[in-house]
Amino acid sequence: MTTNNFCELTPEIMELSKKCSEAATIDPELYGKYDVKRGLRDLNGKGVLVGLTEISDVCSTKIVDGKSVPADGSLYYRGYNVEDIIKGIDKSSHFGFEECTYLLLFGKLPTKEELQSFCALLSQYRTLPTSFVRDIIMKAPSKDMMNTLARSVLTLYSYDDRADDITLPNVLRQCLQLISLFPLLSVYGYQAYNHYHDGASLFIHAPQPEQSTAETILHVLRPDSKYTPLEAKLLDIALILHMEHGGGNNSTFTTHLVSSSGTDTYSAIAAAIGSLKGPRHGGANIKVVKMFDDMKKHLHDWTDEAEVEAYLRALLNKKAFDHAGLIYGMGHAVYSLSDPRARIFRSFVEELSQEKGLNEEFALYTLVERLAPKVIAEERKIYKGVSPNVDFFSGFAYSMLDLPLELYTPIFAIARIAGWSAHRLEELSYNGKIMRPAYKNVCDHREFIPMDQR
Ligand SMILES: CC(C)(COP(=O)(O)OP(=O)(O)OC[C@H]1O[C@@H](n2cnc3c(N)ncnc32)[C@H](O)[C@@H]1OP(=O)(O)O)[C@@H](O)C(=O)NCCC(=O)NCCS
Repeated sequence: MTTNNFCELTPEIMELSKKCSEAATIDPELYGKYDVKRGLRDLNGKGVLVGLTEISDVCSTKIVDGKSVPADGSLYYRGYNVEDIIKGIDKSSHFGFEECTYLLLFGKLPTKEELQSFCALLSQYRTLPTSFVRDIIMKAPSKDMMNTLARSVLTLYSYDDRADDITLPNVLRQCLQLISLFPLLSVYGYQAYNHYHDGASLFIHAPQPEQSTAETILHVLRPDSKYTPLEAKLLDIALILHMEHGGGNNSTFTTHLVSSSGTDTYSAIAAAIGSLKGPRHGGANIKVVKMFDDMKKHLHDWTDEAEVEAYLRALLNKKAFDHAGLIYGMGHAVYSLSDPRARIFRSFVEELSQEKGLNEEFALYTLVERLAPKVIAEERKIYKGVSPNVDFFSGFAYSMLDLPLELYTPIFAIARIAGWSAHRLEELSYNGKIMRPAYKNVCDHREFIPMDQR
């Protein structure tokens, strides 16, 4: 089969897919009747409780007069408010992603010496097996970097003599190696794609041992390896804001779910990457930028509120952009009034937009930020409120950093591997039970019909 007809939707497939959709006859009322928690959440967005964690806390409500009411969101890593962490790191000169990784994995803030040894260990692990770039990353590069990343992670299994050992020290070693290697696997994957698909010059910069994760991304990505301190700082903050978000987010829950079967680290992390790739999860940041590009193409006046509002309404009515009916970068499964990550990131993004002379662009983001929740509330049944999420500003930030669109979601993965690792270690430490929820069958049992009587 050639690649040309490999993906063809033949009339036969179309006919069979019609049968598939005709077979999907579950009455939506039954979900209510059997109290099925769709999306594993109740109507207020509160997730079904499936586990305990000490790694992070995602808060979206407060108690008033004994009742839980929506509140501005807050996020805690091992009990420390992320806003305080970022303020603390911002005052000092070092980067924060490594310090937060230490915090998530080991439950305490590192001393100066502990952080130094930890960074040295990460640098030591930032080396790919011999010929991995040539034999694996350069071969049949995918057009989607998350696919490339997942393939690379799965392939590392065959380079690991202890791949299936799920004892704590070995899983920790594998996780630290993956945390170190994700920037290289992602960016080299992009360089290969850029070369083979777009004919760009191919270069593979070796990482520098003294560089932080954020610096490494910029160093290996850019032809001249140059970046400003503000660029590296902004990327470091983006990594901190994306690195962990409780046990229930789709990719971290995937890590728990897959880890609970006792499988190897590479399988669990590849599955989490597959989850993060989805446009309703990590893939949303690309969609935000593309949606704004489309908006700018169609608007006559970026400052005209009525025109912007009409475009947003067209988005929801599937009449604009990708016709999915979504305003990307808005809404969250848990947060309602505000997403703390968007709040924190907003000021840094504003600062960089001023430095880059992109004030008009930032003003358009601000206008959409204000109008979209109102329009969504008018067009959809909203139970808990909608506000900008972390992806609303991250795509804009990455575009100001000249990062290629293809790397937006991998950068999320480069950050979130720290959280996935902490959760995998927690799952293996505390849980001996394979996850196995229930689905209620609503199909009547039937007599088998012999072929000649159908
Ligand atoms: C993240 C997301 C999947 C959460 O959805 P959710 O958990 O169903 O959120 P809510 O319960 O508040 O949604 C209530 C309704 O509003 C809709 N809604 C919420 N955010 C919306 C958005 N940005 N655009 C259009 N509709 C939206 C939901 O689809 C839901 O409608 P439904 O019941 O008909 O399915 C959703 O907000 C979304 O798709 N956002 C856009 C993609 C995005 O930015 N993702 C990044 C998340 S960090």
